[in-house]
Amino acid sequence: MDNTNDVIIVTGAARGIGFAFAERLAQDGYTAVIFDLAGAEDAAARIRAAGGKSYGYSGSVTSEQDWDSMLAELSVKNVKIRGLVNNAALFASLEMQPFMDVDRETWMKVMEVNTYGPFLAVQKVTPFMKEEGGAIVNISSTSPLKGVTGMPHYVVSKGAVLALTKSLARELGEHGIRVNTIAPGFTLSDGIMLNTEHVNKFRDIGKAARSIKRDQQPADLVGALSFLIGPDSGFITGQTLVVDGGAYFV
Ligand SMILES: NC(=O)c1ccc[n+]([C@@H]2O[C@H](COP(=O)([O-])OP(=O)(O)OC[C@H]3O[C@@H](n4cnc5c(N)ncnc54)[C@H](O)[C@@H]3O)[C@@H](O)[C@H]2O)c1
Repeated sequence: MDNTNDVIIVTGAARGIGFAFAERLAQDGYTAVIFDLAGAEDAAARIRAAGGKSYGYSGSVTSEQDWDSMLAELSVKNVKIRGLVNNAALFASLEMQPFMDVDRETWMKVMEVNTYGPFLAVQKVTPFMKEEGGAIVNISSTSPLKGVTGMPHYVVSKGAVLALTKSLARELGEHGIRVNTIAPGFTLSDGIMLNTEHVNKFRDIGKAARSIKRDQQPADLVGALSFLIGPDSGFITGQTLVVDGGAYFV
């Protein structure tokens, strides 16, 4: 496909699952825009070195100013924004805690990044998509479907992402904008591999619970993303696609 003037913005894509998404989108022929707190330009350079089209911008998904300056820079390029992947979130760095120990500050921080971030992203990006339509993919998790202990703030935030998808799908359908969710199972992303507590707690029980009994890697998610961003899913909106090796059945 030659989609090179079609931009898909992927938040939190300097590493981990987000980077795997950006790489795949570039392979599919899109211009992958990486938006992350740090490392965005280096990640984009890695995609360009492999022959893809990519730009990197530093910023926080929770900052209006950061969104505005990135979108202003993109608007002077010869590109069309056709998609958004709301991937950035606090997860891998979170400490596991019984719910009684989670304080207000930690709760609010997780909600700010994991729920306000995707919401603000959609507010900022959809005005650029309304003319020709587009696709939004929100990254949730299987944790709100199953209930997982030790991180109530995270589980609630990802439940909100599922609800955000459904609510926005209804509102944006008439503008030709589809909104869907991918719910990954426990995935050995870069961030997770840095957190031995998460690896020790979830890796083996995750594998045992799956129908397909192996570790889940970021590469296992990219086909679902490619499908939900692309034209083959053109009549699908408001849906949740679970990608977890067959642990949770919808
Ligand atoms: N790894 C898993 O097991 C797993 C399972 C289910 C869902 N998910 C979801 O997948 C997504 C990616 O997870 P990952 O494991 O690759 O995480 P990761 O920690 O490896 O990467 C997350 C990226 O998001 C960026 N980020 C964090 N806050 C940001 C902000 N305010 N603005 C911009 N960027 C920000 C980080 O800098 C980092 O590059 C997250 O939404 C996560 O909740 C992960």
